[in-house]
Amino acid sequence: MLLSIPDVLTVEQVRHCRAVLDAADWIDGRATAGYQGSKVKDNLQLPEHSPASRELGELILGALERNPLFISAALPAQVYPPLFNRYDGGKNFGDHIDNAVRLIPATGNKIRIDVSATLFLADPDEYEGGELLIEDTYGVHSAKLPAGHMIVYPATSLHRVTPVTRGMRLASFFWIQSMIRNEGQRTLLFDMDTAIQRLNQTGADERALVQLTGSYHNLLRMWAEM
Ligand code: NI
Repeated sequence: MLLSIPDVLTVEQVRHCRAVLDAADWIDGRATAGYQGSKVKDNLQLPEHSPASRELGELILGALERNPLFISAALPAQVYPPLFNRYDGGKNFGDHIDNAVRLIPATGNKIRIDVSATLFLADPDEYEGGELLIEDTYGVHSAKLPAGHMIVYPATSLHRVTPVTRGMRLASFFWIQSMIRNEGQRTLLFDMDTAIQRLNQTGADERALVQLTGSYHNLLRMWAEM
């Protein structure tokens, strides 16, 4: 599913990220693109191992661990260390699908990419263009969220970033290996968890809630891979 997650970072955290990114050195974004991606990718990135990238990456990973909506939607097994990109002066990223498998450089572990995430670090009125367009069987969806908000979507989706014709678009992007590989099963669990939380808040029958919550966990147990 395609899901917006508000307020992943606080205003202060966004401000800190922006200060670090303003002072950082940027490189050609093709550094992390595959063969197909490098033909359509035209943006700038922070070098993966730079101190700025690591520091902000840790900050974001910490925020994700405390975000119940992200955990419920992605059911993460592993999160790729966050990367950072910048689009200005007409830069864009054409149609592509993210790689299926990536090596986490620091550990040498491979991660299967099930879910893709973009965390916006500039507000929509700071730049023209720069929409993230994501295609699924229901059509094309456009995302351009306030700074600190994040969009997660299935890594199987075709997507692109339209040219930034004014100002500067800053974002963090990264990928998640989910405990639930199958997108349909992951969506079902998310819907079920959302309903259980609502029932909890509205004082539903206790015994039914225990059964339903148990069924959620038993489905998770049946399907989860670490
Ligand atoms: Ni992509």
